[in-house]
Amino acid sequence: MELITLNTKNTTYQIGADTNGFLLHLYYGPRAQGDMSQLLTYYFRGNNGVPYDHKGDGTYSADSLPQEFSCYGSGDYRNHALRLADSNGVCGADFRYKSHTVKEGKYSIPGLPSSYSEGGAKTAEIVLEDSRLQCELILRYGIFYDEDIITRSAELRNTGSKSIYINKMLSMSMDFLAGEFDLIHFWGRHFNEMNTEITPVGHELISIGSRRGVTGHQHSSFAILAEKGCTEDAGACYGASVVYSGNFVIEAEQDQYCQTRFQAGLADEMLSYKVAAGRSFFAPEVILAYSGEGLTHLSHLYHRFIRENICRGKYKKIRRPILVNNWEATYFDFTGEKLVEIAKEAAGLGIEMFVLDDGWFGNRGPDDRGLGDWTVNEEKMGGTLDSVVKRIKAEGLGFGIWFEPEMVNENSLLYKEHPDWAFVIPGKPPVLGRTQLVLDFSRKEVRDAVFEQMTAVIDSTDVDYLKIDMNRSICEAYSCGADYQNFGALCYDYMLGVYEFFERLTERYPDILIEGCSSGGARFDAGLMCFTPQIWTSDNSDAIERLNIQYGASFGFPVSVVGSHVSAVPNHQNGRITEMKTRAVVAMAGNFGYELDVTKLCAEDKNQIRGQIEDFKKNWDIIHNGKYYRGAEPHMGCDFVSWSFVSQDASESLLCAVTVNCRANSPVMYAKCRGLDKSAVYRCEEDGKEYSAAALMTVGYPLPVIPGEYHAFTYHFRKI
Ligand code: GLA
Repeated sequence: MELITLNTKNTTYQIGADTNGFLLHLYYGPRAQGDMSQLLTYYFRGNNGVPYDHKGDGTYSADSLPQEFSCYGSGDYRNHALRLADSNGVCGADFRYKSHTVKEGKYSIPGLPSSYSEGGAKTAEIVLEDSRLQCELILRYGIFYDEDIITRSAELRNTGSKSIYINKMLSMSMDFLAGEFDLIHFWGRHFNEMNTEITPVGHELISIGSRRGVTGHQHSSFAILAEKGCTEDAGACYGASVVYSGNFVIEAEQDQYCQTRFQAGLADEMLSYKVAAGRSFFAPEVILAYSGEGLTHLSHLYHRFIRENICRGKYKKIRRPILVNNWEATYFDFTGEKLVEIAKEAAGLGIEMFVLDDGWFGNRGPDDRGLGDWTVNEEKMGGTLDSVVKRIKAEGLGFGIWFEPEMVNENSLLYKEHPDWAFVIPGKPPVLGRTQLVLDFSRKEVRDAVFEQMTAVIDSTDVDYLKIDMNRSICEAYSCGADYQNFGALCYDYMLGVYEFFERLTERYPDILIEGCSSGGARFDAGLMCFTPQIWTSDNSDAIERLNIQYGASFGFPVSVVGSHVSAVPNHQNGRITEMKTRAVVAMAGNFGYELDVTKLCAEDKNQIRGQIEDFKKNWDIIHNGKYYRGAEPHMGCDFVSWSFVSQDASESLLCAVTVNCRANSPVMYAKCRGLDKSAVYRCEEDGKEYSAAALMTVGYPLPVIPGEYHAFTYHFRKI
């Protein structure tokens, strides 16, 4: 057995190529020594597929041995990772190990975003070949030693003279010889993202993902395979985060022998990708992590990695401006004058950035028109954009502006001129989403035209911030491009186009901060985070529903990518009334901002906002760079939700809690701290008392009993 062992500080990942060149997954878990192939067993398994090399030896079967990248045709009848067809449509591959190398530096993937290293990472590359199909399968592993992260990606290289068709190609497939697992995943819908669901992994395929052309609200592209009984603080668990913003799957299943297969990558639905002779196809990256100490540690690995090795640009490290966005303040009903009024008031409160949302362009407002025409509506604005921006900037605020580049309304000049630029199948009435169609971003001329319009607007004034939105899923994967024939490739090619567009934007405007958005959180994934270090997490800005959304997001994503704003009450999405303080405490567990008409607030609210902004600035470092700990949750039987931030050296902690239920003569709610230095004593800034860290972590801090619900509390503890 040729062993390939990848070590990070605390984990080991081992692969073995056996004597016939079959690539086996041997181990992923705590740092270990030795040859894990000793754990393999060879028994007669009944009528299982036996490779020809083992003719007469019924004890060898790909159907029971753990596979590193299971392939259709190998005799493994489980859910495979790769299905190829030759130019006659004949499926069935037989990949054998050819070579492997380990190099300094982290691989990148042509056309696709991926993680990067500022030094220290290595790349392992395993080359397999199929002599009939005449192609190579190159499995790549990014080894991030200090980060305890392994990334995976794959390339299919056509080395022959005929085309090959990819009908399925995942990025990661792993088999576990033993163990009972749950899949922890995060489902949702528009206005209600990131609900946490725990599904036991049994003998049926659990498959979550998207067939929407975008990541979607329905399932997060991050999931956890957790050993049964795994808790926040104990137990083994594995994460998979797909670095892709289109159709994806994450799957888990137990096989006939109760072994578990865990997989992630591109969805195969609607995929049929022609790889011409001499060409390659690249599967997106998947970020893997293992924790033997429960879910909190796993989350911390992802928090750090997304923050440091996915997010880019100058805003990765520095505090982002506290903004006011006019969407929930005005929707489409604004003038340039009104925007300046909001900005003026905001400046007086300490807000640092004004973001002009939808409605400033073409004939936009209502939302059934105008997308595609990125020219300033000067009549509505009362002058040029620059004239309005100058007035906003004169108040001392930065300026941000909203675009939705991938979209077009039929009621637009762009559509009238180029109806063939949208995804519409000739002869089939298109499906609409918010009365809009998706532009065919697989085509360069389409991207170029939108880019040119957008940059003309951006260059016409002084822009500091972009909000890039995407408000519908793709239903008609049909390109009217003159020479386009590869319809099974379109969803993937669309994503390559979108990424190229973002790449151009970030290259041209390295100092502009970009916020991602897709009807809130429909593109909240590690792929987009390579370009946008923050994403509007949900169109639901109600503080109480946000608690659940932010809880779910926290498993795989750091606070630094979460966009979160204080909005008006009654809340526009669900009518709930919460205190200003509660809204702010919840929004501060993210990139803080306001999304309401600040000119309409009473003096008391304005005073609170001034204080909140000071608080956020003071606490930003611990919030952004500290460790985030989940705390109490209603599903644990608590009447409150809590979370905390702890500085990396555990010298301080910020404990936050919001009550979500009220009872007469209520039992006292104790909010537990986590991650403190157990043996130390901490002073609470708010009450001036000194507390044993052990007691704060085992009993908790007693929250005041106040009638009514939705009260928020924050306590700052410093080690003495
Ligand atoms: C989406 C976004 C909102 C807002 C609107 C504007 O729904 O998620 O924040 O920008 O579009 O149309």
